[in-house]
Amino acid sequence: MGKATAVANPNIAFVKYWGKTDDALNLPANPSLSMNLAALTTVTTVEFRPGQAFDVVAIDGHPAVEQALDRVVAHLDRVRALAETPLGRERARVDSRNDFPAATGLASSSSAFAALTLAATQAAGLSLDEAGLSRLARLGSGSACRSVPAGFVLWEMEEVHQVAPAEHWDLRDAIAIVTEQAKAVGSQDGHALAPTSPLHAARVAAVPGWLAAVRDGLARRDLATMGPAIEADALAMHGVMMTSHPSLLYWLPATVAVLQAVRAWRAEGLEVYFTIDAGPNVHCLCGAAAAAEVEKRLKAVPGVHQVVMSGPGAGVRLVDWHLF
Ligand code: PMV
Repeated sequence: MGKATAVANPNIAFVKYWGKTDDALNLPANPSLSMNLAALTTVTTVEFRPGQAFDVVAIDGHPAVEQALDRVVAHLDRVRALAETPLGRERARVDSRNDFPAATGLASSSSAFAALTLAATQAAGLSLDEAGLSRLARLGSGSACRSVPAGFVLWEMEEVHQVAPAEHWDLRDAIAIVTEQAKAVGSQDGHALAPTSPLHAARVAAVPGWLAAVRDGLARRDLATMGPAIEADALAMHGVMMTSHPSLLYWLPATVAVLQAVRAWRAEGLEVYFTIDAGPNVHCLCGAAAAAEVEKRLKAVPGVHQVVMSGPGAGVRLVDWHLF
């Protein structure tokens, strides 16, 4: 019986992945760069069970159904295809738990598929290196490939690598949660809509400039250099979403209230920049010295339910594993 448990942090992209050039391989329309979030974790246990008739998957204590179940089973099938022992080709029991609300723009699929990839490969007796794990995680969910290495991570087509370790910069992400509800349209379906927007090609063409600014700011630990590019790319991605057919509008009134507040605070001299994933919650990036003030102010914005504070996180890691 092979069983393993892995932990992963989701990541927040400073330059986003939105739209694919290859659906099956999850190859992105543009390069992206992200930071793992230490304060948020997904813990996933996979156990291959001889004789079990089908995969049994629980997410946050509830049986997974429909698309969520299909995606996990498809990922287990990828692992089973690689397995060299009979045990690794058996059906599995999967238990995955998030300590944060899933599917609300906190990038839960990134940590989910990073943790699932490491737990399932270990439980199947496979030992993949970081590049191999990242490539496999990408097939489950594109952004998951960036949760495999630690710290600040660049994803360019098939290549993923760390551009700076977590210790490089104590950058903070103050996440303003304006809803805990799961979104109606997930990013799996959203990516396919990107090319239907007339703005998609323009955004993809603009990404290299934004990525250069983000890499430069990151290297010099200078938020003022990367912040405007981070905001521009997030707004461009949401512009693509809004102008797709059908249109995707993830923002709530409180989302816009936070965006306006962040800009007003910046005008007053508080250094903070926003970004938003495929959901209504807003990630506010600031230095460690400004973190307490940003948190306090965000909590006072009407419509903000809670604020989660995070610094840069580790890569995917094993907690416990047994091979009998
Ligand atoms: O990995 P996916 O298919 O859930 O796509 C993630 C897309 C965004 O979170 C919106 C952007 C990103 O780069 O993480």
